[in-house]
Amino acid sequence: MREIQIGMIGLGTVGSGVLKMIQDNEGKILNITGCRLHVKTIVVHNTSKRRQVPLWDTYLTNNFDELLNDPEIPIVVEVMGGIHPAKERIAALLKAKKHVVTANKNLIATDGPELTKLAADNGVDLVYEASVAGGIPILRTIANSFPADKILEVRGIVNGTTNYILTKMNADHLSYEKALKQAQDLGFAEADPTNDVAGFDAAYKMIILSQFSFGTRLTIDDLHVEGIENINREDIKQADAFGYIIKLIGIARRVKESVFAEVAPVLVPKGTPLATVNNERNAVMVTGQAVGDVLFYGPGAGGLPTANSVLSDIIAVTQNIATGTTGHQFNNYRQHYQSTSLDDICYRYYLSLTMKDVPGEMLRLTKIFADINASFLTIVQSSSTAGLAKLAIVTHSMTRRQLLDLQAAIDKSPHHSLQLKAAYKVLDK
Ligand code: HSE
Repeated sequence: MREIQIGMIGLGTVGSGVLKMIQDNEGKILNITGCRLHVKTIVVHNTSKRRQVPLWDTYLTNNFDELLNDPEIPIVVEVMGGIHPAKERIAALLKAKKHVVTANKNLIATDGPELTKLAADNGVDLVYEASVAGGIPILRTIANSFPADKILEVRGIVNGTTNYILTKMNADHLSYEKALKQAQDLGFAEADPTNDVAGFDAAYKMIILSQFSFGTRLTIDDLHVEGIENINREDIKQADAFGYIIKLIGIARRVKESVFAEVAPVLVPKGTPLATVNNERNAVMVTGQAVGDVLFYGPGAGGLPTANSVLSDIIAVTQNIATGTTGHQFNNYRQHYQSTSLDDICYRYYLSLTMKDVPGEMLRLTKIFADINASFLTIVQSSSTAGLAKLAIVTHSMTRRQLLDLQAAIDKSPHHSLQLKAAYKVLDK
């Protein structure tokens, strides 16, 4: 029996889950891999802090070099998070010819190509299944189970914090502020929730999903990213009356010879799969030309669910070591695409507007629509407060260019008598 020594950086929720799963499932891991896994060394800030899991003979240190320079450790798990010093540490480990397993989505989305090259140059593995949608095994599934199908779209609810907040705003009629506070009290949302509520966490995950699905190398600047901070109860109620639920959805899809990707609030028809994903749960729908829609649903975060994805990586690397097949990229699909034309991105939109409640304002709005050749599907005017009427509109399909032109024309209305408060895509499924 071969024993593989594991090193780890970080012993928070996910790190503790990894340690526990290795301790609890030793027999099954041995049965499948022929190897015993043993966590030898963990680098932590505070070596004397009380831990949630028994450490047995695992050694804690705050000296990263002890891990880096230990020739007995071939695999290191990075679960400390953040870009620095995680990037420098991973780079040093790869150069020292150690295989690295990481759950660090921000780092992989921003510096993944550089680190992947470093891993390949040194003949070692760099794997990161847990970086997207925590416990949902989506990356290896796309790489291994869709290699011959042309993926047309990958879309998903890939941020649990925002899905929890939107679920509470919808089902329990909470305001955004109250729902956020509840998410923080329950530990779903961080004290500074910006990365989640502004959509960046989801955008980093979509960058990685797009790499696996389309072979792209998008950066955060290639995506339109809009969070949930401006969604209010009125829009949620109005969407409900129209037959939709508002969700924060990441979309990456082929549009002609390009890939269009964004994260934004969208209206999803009630009863369709993504509309039924509630609370902190995540779901990713992959649409392949041959296979059609395939939905993956599960926990997007949490210690043990995320640890399960980390373990799937550790075991994949262990098997590569055992068979002498290390050094292959986790995802070697690379494809060049043209940039997406604003004329090719077509959606229906939900528009929320206010207008002065005086004669002629509706005519002004319909004139703007007519000038850009856009068309209303549904239009509802609700109660006038302080001389303002509220309008909720669902448009027929229009291009992104038409939407931008519409926004520009509304912004130019005299004395801002017309104001566009929200513009959200409306999906068919
Ligand atoms: N903060 C993330 C979420 C989990 O709320 O889904 C880690 O990516």
